[in-house]
Amino acid sequence: MNSDTAWQALEAHAAELQSRHLKDLLADSGRFESLNYAHEGLLLDLSRQRLLPQTVDQLMELAHACDLPGWIEALFQGEAVNNTEQRPALHTALRLPASATLQVAGEDVVPKVHANLARMAQMVDLLHSGQWRGYTGEAIDTVVNIGVGGSDLGPMMACRALDEFEPEQAKSIEVHFVSSMDGSQLAALLEQLNPATTLFIVSSKSFTTMDTLANAATARRWLQEASDLRDEVLVSRHFIAVTASPDKARQWGIPLASQLHFWDWTGGRYSMWSTIGLPIALKIGIENFQQLLAGAHSLDEHFRHAPLQQNLPVLLAMIGIWNINFLDIHAHAILPYDGRLAHLPAYLEQLEMESNGKSVCRDGSASTHRTCPVLWGEVGPNAQHAFYQLLHQGTEPVMCDFVVSARRYTGQRETLQRQHQLALANCLAQARVLALGDAALGADQGSSQPWQRYRGNQPSTVILLDELTPRALGSLIALYEHKVFVQSVIWGINPFDQWGVELGKTMATQLLQVLDSGDHPRASFDQATNGLLAAIGARRKD
Ligand code: F6P
Repeated sequence: MNSDTAWQALEAHAAELQSRHLKDLLADSGRFESLNYAHEGLLLDLSRQRLLPQTVDQLMELAHACDLPGWIEALFQGEAVNNTEQRPALHTALRLPASATLQVAGEDVVPKVHANLARMAQMVDLLHSGQWRGYTGEAIDTVVNIGVGGSDLGPMMACRALDEFEPEQAKSIEVHFVSSMDGSQLAALLEQLNPATTLFIVSSKSFTTMDTLANAATARRWLQEASDLRDEVLVSRHFIAVTASPDKARQWGIPLASQLHFWDWTGGRYSMWSTIGLPIALKIGIENFQQLLAGAHSLDEHFRHAPLQQNLPVLLAMIGIWNINFLDIHAHAILPYDGRLAHLPAYLEQLEMESNGKSVCRDGSASTHRTCPVLWGEVGPNAQHAFYQLLHQGTEPVMCDFVVSARRYTGQRETLQRQHQLALANCLAQARVLALGDAALGADQGSSQPWQRYRGNQPSTVILLDELTPRALGSLIALYEHKVFVQSVIWGINPFDQWGVELGKTMATQLLQVLDSGDHPRASFDQATNGLLAAIGARRKD
């Protein structure tokens, strides 16, 4: 079957299913059994999706017709799947065990990956043991990661998620994150910190990102104001660069000895497994960081070898394809029922929308299918008091991912276990009401008032973790990474570039020149920009 035929068959199937409400589909007693899938400590429950088990078979025919197995192999073997930049996307190589080999362009990349990991472990050890000292000779007790996008979101998300795995030796170091270009996070933080014991990690693959360089320059000035020592001494003791552009970091002033590297074949939003993960390793220790890698590797193996029908990332991706391309659903909410996963929605917003927010295919032609939906989210229980109203009674169809763990607070205080129980109950309640609507109460129990009715039929997936551990988080994130890749294959787009962010950077540079020159009235942009520049100029003169 070719992909057009598979696509048409799915369209016909969707038309047949159109009138079937989820409450009818869920009446089938074998439904949960036939639509839940597991790998290690992850369970994927697809029983609240608007489909039949045979829909999954048809979706897999589409996946085969698009040569998904061939693309998966190309990804793992290091072929140039990032065609517009002519390079591989080898985040999977970053979590290979040391015993593995992977030849890319005639070179085994695994020893290089492990050499970098070992250097990172050394730095972590120096910091944890108090041997890395600041300009007064005191030990560093605070680390501030300066980065943005992929150089911020992954480490920040993982540090928050795994906070309770902090080992004893890591407790001597506080880890903070700053990203905002306007300096608001950094300025507030610097007021509380001691320059003599603070170290900055400048995390930037390109080492050209203006947001990061502006924050790094502010941090450098802060140190210069605090000490009379030469800038070189201050920078070498108080800055680490994590980058794929060592020369640029050196030109900025950070010596090679204070740098950690990774490679251009690691995409920014796929880089938390590389030395960009330094803050994670500082927070949870190198052993736990290795567990994170091991969890991702286990999911990689599953993705590479499991049959498509049982393959979790493939299933998650193809359900998305079903919703977006056949059920016309273009909003996707990420709803973790666990405060530790507070940054997961922001992380996935970048992963999914920067990867697949495209409308041009690999061959340069315009995409004929809708691609990445609008994705957003929030810790579920908080979102219940904010935007769930729209999910339950708005006009937009929305697909939801609920993420929750079965066990939490094991062996700890009863009161906290009770709170986890509350979160679990709310998660299951919301998935149920979204699917069934009024029918969740039982037949004919809905209110007679139209504004109190729930129509239900909103599809959702529940991702149930046995427990949130470093290994489980690694698997969860790899699950989403591969999901994104699978969808890109079906849509025929390159998920590993992000050309759509470049023009804004060029424009900002031009506008900065005008703002710096103070020559607002002579700006020659479009009317709206000129008008605002003039208004800003006039208000600054007041
Ligand atoms: O502008 C988008 C982007 O390039 C992301 O893809 C990337 O994660 C982020 O900026 C930060 O880039 P860098 O690590 O090079 O500073």
